[in-house]
Amino acid sequence: MKIIIVGATGTLGKHVTAVLEKEHEVIKVGSKSGDLQVDINSPESIEGFYEQVGNFDALVSTTGNGHFGPLTTMKYTDFMKGVNSKLMGQVNLVLTGQHYINPKGSFTLTSGILSEDPIVLGANLSAVNGAVEAFVKAAAIELENGVRINAISPGVVEDSPGYFPFFPGHPPVTMDRVALAYVKSVLGAQTGQVYKVY
Ligand SMILES: NC(=O)c1ccc[n+]([C@@H]2O[C@H](COP(=O)([O-])OP(=O)(O)OC[C@H]3O[C@@H](n4cnc5c(N)ncnc54)[C@H](OP(=O)(O)O)[C@@H]3O)[C@@H](O)[C@H]2O)c1
Repeated sequence: MKIIIVGATGTLGKHVTAVLEKEHEVIKVGSKSGDLQVDINSPESIEGFYEQVGNFDALVSTTGNGHFGPLTTMKYTDFMKGVNSKLMGQVNLVLTGQHYINPKGSFTLTSGILSEDPIVLGANLSAVNGAVEAFVKAAAIELENGVRINAISPGVVEDSPGYFPFFPGHPPVTMDRVALAYVKSVLGAQTGQVYKVY
């Protein structure tokens, strides 16, 4: 299987990559790192990326940023950071990628626990994660040629200790469990699902 992993060099992505590349051709992608580069904030960059990479069987996205900060001082431009990156960046990987993906291929996007278990400073990421999950459920009923789509919603992960103070009482999830959820999405048969790894 030819699998594209956008965010392959990141905290989550490197674990997903390590598992999938044992038995599959994995193309590692970042904005600066990896085998190929794309900027998910730019529709033009995404179009050029797919032209370069051609047809593929699965795309995994373990990328996307948002604004982390207090609601009381949050501005439109702060909020749009998550909309433009984690939401529209991932959505655009699907909107454009659907024209390059092979029949019975799959898309796997990343949301996160904040869509249903909010924390202080997390309003932007909560909203964006919820939107990613809603998009996945809706896109699943329209994608053609047996193409599937799922989202992975991890809790705070054990390899991100810098986030722990912001997630009081949240048990960190192991990287193995997170990586397995992506494997289930890519190699399994389900679609329109949100796999929660809390
Ligand atoms: N860490 C956690 O505890 C946790 C928990 C739940 C959900 N999540 C979600 O999981 C996703 C990944 O998080 P992470 O902690 O693994 O992030 P990370 O360590 O910062 O890794 C981000 C990855 O995305 C790439 N990237 C960054 N900007 C990009 C762009 N504009 N276009 C294309 N690629 C880009 C980076 O490569 P370059 O440096 O080459 O750009 C890197 O490979 C995020 O959506 C995050 O919200 C994380």
